[in-house]
Amino acid sequence: MWAAVVPEAKARWELREIPTPTAGPGQVLIRVHACGVCHNDLWVSQGVFPFPPLDPVVVGHEAAGEVVGVGPGVTTRRVGDRVGTTWVQATCGRCDYCRLNLPLTGQSGMNCPESVMSGLTVQGGHAEYVAVPADSTVLLPDALSYEAAAPVLCAGYTAWSALRAANPEPGERVAVLGIGGLGHLAVQFARATGFETVAVTRSPDKHALARTLGADHVVADGAQLKAAGGADVVLVTGTSYRAATDTLQGLRPNGRIVLATIDPVDSFTIPPTSPFWAQRQQVIGATHNGLDQLTEALDLVASGAVTPLIETFPKERVAEALERVERGEVRFRAVVTYA
Ligand SMILES: NC(=O)c1ccc[n+]([C@@H]2O[C@H](COP(=O)([O-])OP(=O)(O)OC[C@H]3O[C@@H](n4cnc5c(N)ncnc54)[C@H](OP(=O)(O)O)[C@@H]3O)[C@@H](O)[C@H]2O)c1
Ligand SMILES: [Zn+2]
Ligand SMILES: [Zn+2]
Repeated sequence: MWAAVVPEAKARWELREIPTPTAGPGQVLIRVHACGVCHNDLWVSQGVFPFPPLDPVVVGHEAAGEVVGVGPGVTTRRVGDRVGTTWVQATCGRCDYCRLNLPLTGQSGMNCPESVMSGLTVQGGHAEYVAVPADSTVLLPDALSYEAAAPVLCAGYTAWSALRAANPEPGERVAVLGIGGLGHLAVQFARATGFETVAVTRSPDKHALARTLGADHVVADGAQLKAAGGADVVLVTGTSYRAATDTLQGLRPNGRIVLATIDPVDSFTIPPTSPFWAQRQQVIGATHNGLDQLTEALDLVASGAVTPLIETFPKERVAEALERVERGEVRFRAVVTYA
């Protein structure tokens, strides 16, 4: 099969022919139609995250496609099913964390020492085929194309989980910091579920776009957010903890700031002069929060209430897709097609 191989850290992705996987016990073999490019794929290939011990390295955790084979023991998926895959595929089931018997989430991926993660511990979805545990897949709504589903499988999943983690009350105002893959969906999820929404973007050219996504207000930073009346919830979806810290000045009393961002270099800090304690504010971490929430996100997209804005690249142009992501040029998710 053809796969987008990351030859080494900091190297250009290459389309190479590598062995096609087979479905092992409990697994399905998926003919990948579309796979989105997450900022985390970029960081893996830039060497910002540890380079995966795979030969060859194939990343990608937003693969959507059709089941073409089922391994021994699979009863819940059939050949022909349209499915989505995601980042955390499985855990060991036996360590102290697994014995809590919590659902499969991003949290399990980071706690079980033997978790199976697409593109990190096993080959990922930037390929014509991928084999994953049937239980880690979701059935896609019929109304959803593979290209539109792909960005939901990590970006949308995380954005929706972050909004859910904040537990917004009717009438509250939601701000989204960083309008990229996650952020452009977070704005739409917040608006689609009835919240007055503020986009916080450092990119002037995104102001008009953020309004078309549904943002009621668009500001550039925390000072402007405060001047605009602040927000009860700030969903931090860009790449910068420093920018998240800056946004604290616009967090209202009893507000929640939700960090979905992973920032490998900088820190989130509560400034010494901030009356965070008196405001009874909360900082909440967010990641993929269970396949039920992924399904909710997919259903919102299938209903037409939320629409991923994507740039589609055929597999032959995968390296170009990565370069555009690296330069911050994609509006708002690069999706590579493999079929
Ligand atoms: N928690 C999880 O499970 C999870 C899952 C997936 C991704 N993530 C994290 O989510 C973040 C976003 O991922 P993505 O795929 O949406 O990335 P992306 O599409 O590349 O978007 C990143 C956005 O960050 C903002 N940004 C970039 N450089 C910045 C800087 N120096 N200062 C302030 N803001 C900056 C930009 O927004 P503006 O142009 O609007 O300023 C940009 O659009 C990453 O940190 C990623 O690691 C977390
Ligand atoms: Zn991701
Ligand atoms: Zn475990």
